[in-house]
Amino acid sequence: MTSTNPERLKSFMESCRERVEQALERRLPAADKLPARLHQAMRYSVLDGGKRLRPILTYATGRALDVPLDVLDGPACAVEFIHAYSLIHDDLPAMDDDDLRRGKPTCHVEFDEATAILAGDALQTLAFEVLATDPQMNATAAQRVAMIDCLAKASGSGGMVGGQAIDLMSVGLQLDLPALEMMHIYKTGALIRASVRLTSLACPDLDDEIAARLDHYAKCIGLAFQIQDDILDEESDTATLGKTQGKDRAQNKPTYPALLGMSGAKQKAREMHEDAVDSLRPLGDKAELLRTLSLFIIQRRN
Ligand code: IPE
Ligand code: IPE
Ligand code: MG
Ligand code: MG
Ligand code: MG
Repeated sequence: MTSTNPERLKSFMESCRERVEQALERRLPAADKLPARLHQAMRYSVLDGGKRLRPILTYATGRALDVPLDVLDGPACAVEFIHAYSLIHDDLPAMDDDDLRRGKPTCHVEFDEATAILAGDALQTLAFEVLATDPQMNATAAQRVAMIDCLAKASGSGGMVGGQAIDLMSVGLQLDLPALEMMHIYKTGALIRASVRLTSLACPDLDDEIAARLDHYAKCIGLAFQIQDDILDEESDTATLGKTQGKDRAQNKPTYPALLGMSGAKQKAREMHEDAVDSLRPLGDKAELLRTLSLFIIQRRN
């Protein structure tokens, strides 16, 4: 099996970022289209920032399954639109009350609260419009319905929104490990899982065993991703993160470092990475990018 190659991953990630940046730009309403302030807020929060990890996962799964990347632009944009909406709402005063995101003022600070709420709402519906109609996807009606179902479940009360609800209800509480794991799997893991699954759904003849292996991989890295987010909130700095460091502790959020200590949290992230990589074994060399991405997730500094 090919050993992981960080240089190859770096150049793949860079090309995916360029690719998705253009694809997002093309699918967003123009900045001067009425209501212009709303469209400007949507563009402000989506374009020009972020690691684009979810689209990169969609494309890297495409490489593993021999799906041409151009049919994945729609799904990659859909998942990034949901992610951008989740960040806008996560930063609102009623939620985490943050004023810095991706190194810029948060949407409600740059615009206003009502516009930020509406920009999030409109990005959410745009995601589903893309999956329903994007001509470049070259998908059957049944595939589109399956993708819409996948993203809707990952985004809703059994996924990201449900996780956010648990997060907000848990402030100041001491969650046990299963409850904390569930919160992370919902609020962050579900959308990361959907990023991989959308590519599986673009592959009509995909073997069930391979689909299940990829899904398990995605579940593991989704949890690892949020554990690392918690770790970085403690260990990194505001300039590197592009968001205010130390907010979890200040707001008394339940996190992995708070529950397990820093070395326990790092150990858990490492175990999730190992489980993820193990799950990819039947895919052999084709999954090299996915393996390296898993390592990137637990080693990233922002
Ligand atoms: C931040 O996600 C929110 C979480 C789910 C932890 P990212 O770290 O992927 O944010 P961007 O897209 O790179 O800004
Ligand atoms: C947010 O988790 C997860 C979302 C669904 C947006 P966090 O609240 O930890 O994300 P950051 O740290 O603000 O990016
Ligand atoms: Mg939050
Ligand atoms: Mg937050
Ligand atoms: Mg965080």
